[in-house]
Amino acid sequence: MTAAAIQVQGIEKSYDDLRVLRGVDLDVPPGSIVALLGSNGAGKTTLVRILSTLLRADAGSATVAGFDVAAHPADVRASISLTGQFAAVDETLTGRENVVLVARLRHLPDTGRVADGLLARFGLTGAAGRRVATYSGGMRRRLDIAMSLVGDPPVVFLDEPTTGLDPQSRLEVWDSVRELSGRGTTVLLTTQQLEEAEQLADRIAILHEGRIIADGTLTELKALLPPAEVEYVEKQPTLEEVFLAVVGAGSGTSRGPR
Ligand SMILES: Nc1ncnc2c1ncn2[C@@H]1O[C@H](COP(=O)(O)OP(=O)(O)O)[C@@H](O)[C@H]1O
Ligand SMILES: [Mg+2]
Repeated sequence: MTAAAIQVQGIEKSYDDLRVLRGVDLDVPPGSIVALLGSNGAGKTTLVRILSTLLRADAGSATVAGFDVAAHPADVRASISLTGQFAAVDETLTGRENVVLVARLRHLPDTGRVADGLLARFGLTGAAGRRVATYSGGMRRRLDIAMSLVGDPPVVFLDEPTTGLDPQSRLEVWDSVRELSGRGTTVLLTTQQLEEAEQLADRIAILHEGRIIADGTLTELKALLPPAEVEYVEKQPTLEEVFLAVVGAGSGTSRGPR
C-alpha cells in the first residue's frame, strides 16, 4: 500500500466564533508514527475527533485507512482505535477481564487467547489477574492501549497518551507505542511534549493557530534553523528551538541566522 494511511486536506472547524482549525493539511504514511505537536488548546483533540468520526469538520476532507470520514464513517470506525487522555478502563474488573470484555463486544472468537496475547505484548501478564484499581497510572494507560488494539485496527489515534504520567510510566508507555509501530500499525499521536515527539515520531507536525506550520522528520525540522556556531563546534538546534522559532513564541526567544 502506498497511499497515506491518514490524509487530511483543508480541514476547518470552528466552535461558534472560535476558529480552531483553519485549513489543516497532513499526510501520515502507513506504518509510521506521526506526532501532532501543539500547545494546550491548539486543536489537537479537535482534529483527532474529526478523524475518528466523533465530530464533523466545517470544511475540507480527510480519509483514514482509505475511507472518507464524512462519507464512510462506519468503515473508518472499523479501521481505527482511539485512546484518550483519560483511560477508559473498568476499575472493578481485572486487567484480563477488561480486555476479554472488549473482545466479546467485538464478537471475536477465542477472547481469552486474544486477551492473553495483548496483555503479554504490553507487559501486563503478571498483573492480568489483579483488579485495575490496584494498577499504576502507566499500567492503566498500557491496558487502555492494549484494549484499543483488540481486533487489530490498522490505524491508532493516541491523544496525549502520557499526559499526567510520572516519568517511569511515561517510558513504559513509550515502549508500548514503539511496539505498536514495530508491527506495522499506523500511529497518530498528539502531544504537548517536545521530548515525546522527539523520542517516538518518524515525522512531527506542528499545529499552531489552526494550521500545520511545520511538518517533517526531526532532521528536516532541525534543518529549518541554521546551526549555531559555538567556537569550532557546530551545535544542531534542538527541537525546542525549532518549535519556538516556528511558532514565534514570546519576545527574544526566537533565533535568527547569525
Ligand atoms: N465543544 C467545544 N465547544 C467550544 N469550544 C471548544 C470545544 N472543544 C474544544 N474547544 C476549544 O477549542 C480549542 C481547541 O481545543 P482542543 O482541540 O481540545 O485543543 P488541544 O487538544 O490541542 O488542547 C480550545 O480553545 C478549546 O477550549
Ligand atoms: Mg487535547
